[in-house]
Formats: sequence, structure tokens, C-alpha cells
Amino acid sequence: MPSAASDIIRRTPFVRLHDVFLAYEHQICTYWSEVDVKQYFYRGDKTMARRRIIAGNWKMNKTPTEAVALCNELKDLVKNDDVDVVYCVPAIDIVPVAEAVKGTNVHVGAENFYIEDKGAFTGEISAPMLKDAGVEYIIIGHSERRDIFGENDVLINAKVKKAFAAGLKPILCCGESLALRKADTYKEWIERQITWDLSGVSADQVKNLVIAYEPIWAIGTGETATADQAEEVCKLIRELIAKLYDQATADAVRIQYGGSMNAGNAAELLSKPNIDGGLIGGASLKADFGQIVNA
Ligand code: PGA
Repeated sequence: MPSAASDIIRRTPFVRLHDVFLAYEHQICTYWSEVDVKQYFYRGDKTMARRRIIAGNWKMNKTPTEAVALCNELKDLVKNDDVDVVYCVPAIDIVPVAEAVKGTNVHVGAENFYIEDKGAFTGEISAPMLKDAGVEYIIIGHSERRDIFGENDVLINAKVKKAFAAGLKPILCCGESLALRKADTYKEWIERQITWDLSGVSADQVKNLVIAYEPIWAIGTGETATADQAEEVCKLIRELIAKLYDQATADAVRIQYGGSMNAGNAAELLSKPNIDGGLIGGASLKADFGQIVNA
């Protein structure tokens, strides 16, 4: 089991700079909390017109033929005019899925792209390509891309900016490992991820952003964060957005929980004031997804 410190170092080459930045941030935040934060404090009022967003993250599952079959299976089950329903699918499934969900309430998302528009980047796919194929949402910074494919916060930040420039809506993922959770440093970790990933991103853009809090220890493990654990971090993220931007931006940004969300636990998680939706892996590949959409 890696220690919390080595876990941090493994995940980012910028640990020293980060720490300096955090210390600086902390001073500013402390100042803010003494002076102004009370008047901006989020009141937990969900009536501020944040639309629920339930997104499936299909990961590396479903051939094009299977993808179309799943769309047809879910078609009636995911009907709900009050919810944004998104299928984030493998690149090769995008075109057939876009065709299969035409005329329904389902939006199409992608799972990855590269920051250049075109050129000699063998194996990559660009934001304009996704846009042209009918993609609206794009998952950025998923822990599997950070951990398995070595994406760091510098690239993730560039991807967020590129996605907005190309007219795609990012679903920006953040989340801590089990080691960071146990070391009780997860809050600082999440704040650091979000702060870096949104560097240079404007308030108007953040109002159209979706942030997914996905504790790594809960992804694909069947171990869900409790509704209170998930709410604690989603609230923290909203408060961070208020500090980095302003309260109107914090009230507008949609925050999802992800990590073993299923038909049985969705309603409780989604009842929390700062949880506006879910990013769902395993359960998005079966009929249960309809129950989550309508939870
Ligand atoms: P899971 O995956 O629902 O299978 O835990 C969530 C995710 O990785 O987005």
C-alpha cells in the first residue's frame, strides 16, 4: 500500500509547486472566510434551476452493434423530460449511437480526445471530429485516464479549455485514492485538482461545466461512498467554485457523484442538496440505468 505522500508524488510531477500554491490559496481562503464568505454561503436551495444530469460512462464496453442494441433497450426506460441523460461511449460507437438516439431525450458524450484539431497524432481523435459526429459532452480527467494513461492536471486543464473552445461541455472528474481518504487529506487533494484543472477557465464557462466527484475507492468496487460522504465533497467543490469565481457560478455548476451508483442507492445520493446527478459506469450498461434516471 503506498503512503499518502508517495501516492501524491506518483500522481503528479508538480507536487512542490502545488504545495506552494496550496499554502498561498489557504491564506487567501482564510482571509475570505473571515471577511465575506458568510454572505455568499450556499443555502442548499436546489430550486436554483440546476437541471439533474445522469450520464453513463460506458468505458471500453460495447461493440457498435451492441451499442445500438443497448440504446434500443434503454430507450423507453430513460424517458424523463426533467433530466439531462447522456451516454458517454467509446469513440467507435459515437456515430451509431448518435443515430440510434435521434429524436429521444438522450445526449451523446465521448470519453476522450486530444487537444489538437488535426495532424500527426496517430490513434487520437479531435474535439472538432467529436462535435461533427454529434457529441455534446466530453469526460475529462477520469481517474482511469489519470492512472492508467498518465494524464496529469496540465493536460487535463488544456483539455477543459479546448473542449469549451470547440463547443463541447466537459464532465470534469476528480477524486481521491483510498490512501488519501485514509490519510484524511482528500479535501486538499480535491481542491488542488479542481483549482489546477480550471486554471484560466472563465466563470461563464464554469457555469456550463459538469464536475464529477468520483472517489477512486468507490469506482467499480461495489463500495459506494455514503450519501453523506458524497455530499460533503460535492458541497466542498461548490464552495471552492464560489471562492475561485463567485456565488452565481457556484450555484450554476452541476456536480455529479460517481462510484458504484446503482438503482438501489441513487435516490438517496441524488436527494442531497449539492449532488445534481451521477456519472455511472457499470450500471449504465443495463436496464438499471433507467431506474437511476428516474430515481
Ligand atoms: P462505476 O464507474 O459506476 O462502475 O463505479 C463510475 C465511473 O468510473 O465513472
